[in-house]
Amino acid sequence: MSVTSQNLYAAGSANKGRRPPVMSVSQLTVHFSSAAGVVKAAEDVSFDLDESEVLAIVGESGSGKSVTALSLLKLVQTPPGEYVSGTITVDGSSVLDADHKELEQIRGSKISMIFQNPRAALNPSLTVLSQLIETIRRHDPRIAVVQARQKALETMRAVGVAEPERVAANYPHQISGGMCQRIGLALALACNPKVLIADEPTTQLDAHVQAKILLTLKRLHIEHRIPIILITHDFGVVRAMASRIIVMYAGKIQEEGSADQVLNNPQHPYTRALIASVPRLDEQVDRLYQIPGQPPNLAKLPTGCSFQDRCPNVHDKCRLSQPRLLKTQSGSYARCHLFEAAQEASR
Ligand SMILES: Nc1ncnc2c1ncn2[C@@H]1O[C@H](COP(=O)(O)OP(=O)(O)OP(=O)(O)O)[C@@H](O)[C@H]1O
Ligand SMILES: [Mg+2]
Repeated sequence: MSVTSQNLYAAGSANKGRRPPVMSVSQLTVHFSSAAGVVKAAEDVSFDLDESEVLAIVGESGSGKSVTALSLLKLVQTPPGEYVSGTITVDGSSVLDADHKELEQIRGSKISMIFQNPRAALNPSLTVLSQLIETIRRHDPRIAVVQARQKALETMRAVGVAEPERVAANYPHQISGGMCQRIGLALALACNPKVLIADEPTTQLDAHVQAKILLTLKRLHIEHRIPIILITHDFGVVRAMASRIIVMYAGKIQEEGSADQVLNNPQHPYTRALIASVPRLDEQVDRLYQIPGQPPNLAKLPTGCSFQDRCPNVHDKCRLSQPRLLKTQSGSYARCHLFEAAQEASR
């Protein structure tokens, strides 16, 4: 991938705390009822997002990343889903308390999202231009069609579409996957959102298209000062893009810290295992490390730590009580009994 692995945002974390966060999530808990029982998809998820940040949410499949992201726009289908508790505020608006009309305003003009399958996110029966004009005018009906058209073309240019007039006349099936994702991005940005959420935005794209889209996201973040929540499995993407990282497992945040802390000095045994299982170009190994076992069934979570059955550091306490998210020596926060023991010892 041609995206630089140097992290451009190291300075961003030093600015943390100067302004109030643009988004705050506090104790978000989302469950699904299913035949197998209550699926605890997101439990007690809390984080803030600053304007200067690209926050990556990483974790294995089924760890609750998308449910968390969808909740930020109140997009979880209820039922079977249920917002059990928690608050989400973005730019002063409370998302979970919003009614249908308020949500229409929040979605698009405060938070926008791009998805894994960009083609599916577009309307197949409308041209690219019609979709952009419709989105822009839905959020502000006072904008005349001519102006909306102008804005649509400008937004397409901003997301790297070299010939916007030509592409705008096409239907989604007439453009490539990479172009669909650029149009998805243009739709997401058309109403000047305060926060952009990208859920696995490049996993279905070829490597070179992936790199181009990531570079576009990075440029938009820097030039337009849009904070981004980026959900990905790919640690290469995390390394290239993130200023801060949340590691999720079994619906809970297991570790949270700056990109430097989490990538270069991971504290939670799960984060260490995840990073160890990423292939490295500078190391020759006979066999890639694989985290043993499988994530737990979220409808039948064990008592105690949810990583206990796969953890190399498991001890008696891990099977008895759930660990809390605690500050570690590296400065990151980790949900692990190892750090409770360390904190007690230092008292
Ligand atoms: N509509 C639903 N009904 C029941 N369970 C659901 C529903 N949507 C999600 N879940 C469950 O919630 C849990 C978290 O799902 P989520 O989609 O957030 O995972 P993820 O971390 O995004 O995984 P992936 O990396 O595969 O996208 C999973 O166990 C999933 O099966
Ligand atoms: Mg997902």
